[in-house]
Amino acid sequence: MKSSSFSGFYKLPMDDRVREVQEFAGLSDEEASLLKGFMGLPRDTADRMIENVVGCMPLPLGIAVNFQVNGADRLVPMAIEEPSVVAAASHAAKLARATGGFTAKASPPLMIGQIQIVGVGEEDFNDKAAGILGAKKELLDFANSLDPVLVKFGGGARDIEVREVKTSGGRMMGVHLVVDVRDAMGANAVNTMCEALAPKIEELTGGTAILRIISNLAVKRTVRAGVKYKKEDLGGEGNVDRIVNAYYFAEGDPFRAATHNKGAMNGIDAVVIATGNDWRAIEAGVHAYAAMGGRYLPVTKWWKSAEGDLEGSIEVPMAVGLVGGATKTHPVAKVCVKILGVKTAAELAEIIACVGLAQNFAALKALATEGIQRGHMGLHARNVAVAAGATGELVDRVAAKMVEEKRVRADRAKELVEEMKGKQAPFPVN
Ligand code: MEV
Repeated sequence: MKSSSFSGFYKLPMDDRVREVQEFAGLSDEEASLLKGFMGLPRDTADRMIENVVGCMPLPLGIAVNFQVNGADRLVPMAIEEPSVVAAASHAAKLARATGGFTAKASPPLMIGQIQIVGVGEEDFNDKAAGILGAKKELLDFANSLDPVLVKFGGGARDIEVREVKTSGGRMMGVHLVVDVRDAMGANAVNTMCEALAPKIEELTGGTAILRIISNLAVKRTVRAGVKYKKEDLGGEGNVDRIVNAYYFAEGDPFRAATHNKGAMNGIDAVVIATGNDWRAIEAGVHAYAAMGGRYLPVTKWWKSAEGDLEGSIEVPMAVGLVGGATKTHPVAKVCVKILGVKTAAELAEIIACVGLAQNFAALKALATEGIQRGHMGLHARNVAVAAGATGELVDRVAAKMVEEKRVRADRAKELVEEMKGKQAPFPVN
């Protein structure tokens, strides 16, 4: 098996990085040049994907190295505009290798579709609900007749649940259709089934169906991941305690929990976007799941083991797919799936959860020890230098000077660009 462990990957010229990834993932020359060419989305494909297309909004695509998930080495493509995220994920994955990397397990791919029914009298509610449940088999058979391909691949409608929903507009019925969507994200299959089932539910209840749509709170399609970091790799047990305390703070305070979870989403979203999946669906699902108990909580947990090491876990809904949608139409998303080497949506979900856990760990480690700014500053300084007009090797020199002076500001960058422009070094400065 090829190793995803690279030291100094970031120091390689970009073409060499692509070559390494090409070798690791068995990419064709065409796929590799798609990455190198910065022309990932052809005009016509973009024009067919959404309406009123006028251009593209490219994001940098980075590769997080060092990941081991369930014993397999993975290179992880991440599409994101924020500096430090890819480096932080790679660092977290590198430290995790000392204990064998991450473990992860996705649940079966069960999505929920909702049919909203209004106008069922309070006194009739239980009888009508029982009527639906009594007709479950016929309803499921009917739903499955709508999608023979999904059924052929081992998926299909599995269950029906009836919920009472108290609203400010009165009592309503929420009929949940549970569908095994296999390797799809599932919205199309589920929405089609819900729309077709709605008249039958109206008939059974005497009520009126209004909404017929998938729920992004994918509580039946979750993924769990875990990791262990050795205390020696964290600078000792004192830092383990500091990280665990940082987690407790998020557990006790929604203001912190939102930022804590944002850190995990930095990793999750970046992989979801790189693979052409629907990151709004993932965001909505994860945050709703985090608040399921009535209070917004962190999506990860961290604790100290009996040996004084740091252990952590994440549990999130993860409705990602490999068939349908942009995953299959976006040429770069297809290459990203190939780089990941995943064959099922469950495997993809497992890797994504691990990246979220790694990202959260990296943020907590930095925040609870040296603070986030030191690591951030170097990269931020480079952006400030570029905005001030630095090009080529001047970018690194201006950035290094601003970091040294602890004055990472646009005005200082402009001064330095002017000062240094005449004195460009004949060789690159580290
Ligand atoms: C920044 O994008 C993410 C962090 O704020 C996450 C955190 O505070 O845990 C660093």
